[in-house]
Amino acid sequence: MSFSMTPVITVDGPGGSGKGTITQMLARELGWHLLDSGALYRLTALAATRQGVALDNEAGLVAVAASLDVAFEPTEPGEPVKVILAGEDVTVEIRTEATGDNASRVAVIQPVRDALLQRQRDFQQPPGLVADGRDMGTVVFPDAPVKIFLTASAEERASRRYNQLKDAGVDVNIDTLLEEIRVRDERDMNRSAAPLKPADDAQVIDSTGLSIKEVLDRCMAVAGQA
Ligand code: DC
Repeated sequence: MSFSMTPVITVDGPGGSGKGTITQMLARELGWHLLDSGALYRLTALAATRQGVALDNEAGLVAVAASLDVAFEPTEPGEPVKVILAGEDVTVEIRTEATGDNASRVAVIQPVRDALLQRQRDFQQPPGLVADGRDMGTVVFPDAPVKIFLTASAEERASRRYNQLKDAGVDVNIDTLLEEIRVRDERDMNRSAAPLKPADDAQVIDSTGLSIKEVLDRCMAVAGQA
């Protein structure tokens, strides 16, 4: 990997740990770029489905990942970044449970991960980058000076997701969500390709029972130690 002076803060952890919100707030607070690496896995899954590439067709998935035509467009502060796939706004579609589940399946395939690696590293641009994912601190930016691993209990993550979906007008059952979260955790943590785990030099923050503000304060304190 080429050495770069541009600083990176990595924020890894399971889905629903508050990573998405926290990375957006950190990036805004610092005036740095943001990488939502999960979106790239979600986009690969969505593009594959649209192109009729089966989720067990490894070579087909690698081709889809390598040729993703994607743009991330900034929006108002507090709003999710707009995600454009081949000219079409897929911001809402990539967030569905079905796309998340498919993303978790394509993410176990090492050649797909390899195909997305450089695209992720290209986000390291001055003045700095906050990178959100599962393997930001372990694989993509192993030299990052600040590494955070954000976690929360499965029950708390299910309840946060439930509220998010309810606010978005999506009808879901909390027990189903909890079960889905457990299945996805299991897959993400036990896969051989870049499993979800804290880097040796990561600071682990458990956000269970903490407000967003409290989590942000702790992350800023960690960022300040660099
Ligand atoms: O963070 P997310 O829910 O948008 O991620 C979607 C899926 O992609 C998730 O199941 C794990 C996978 N992923 C990954 O394997 N590596 C990353 N750096 C980011 C996400």
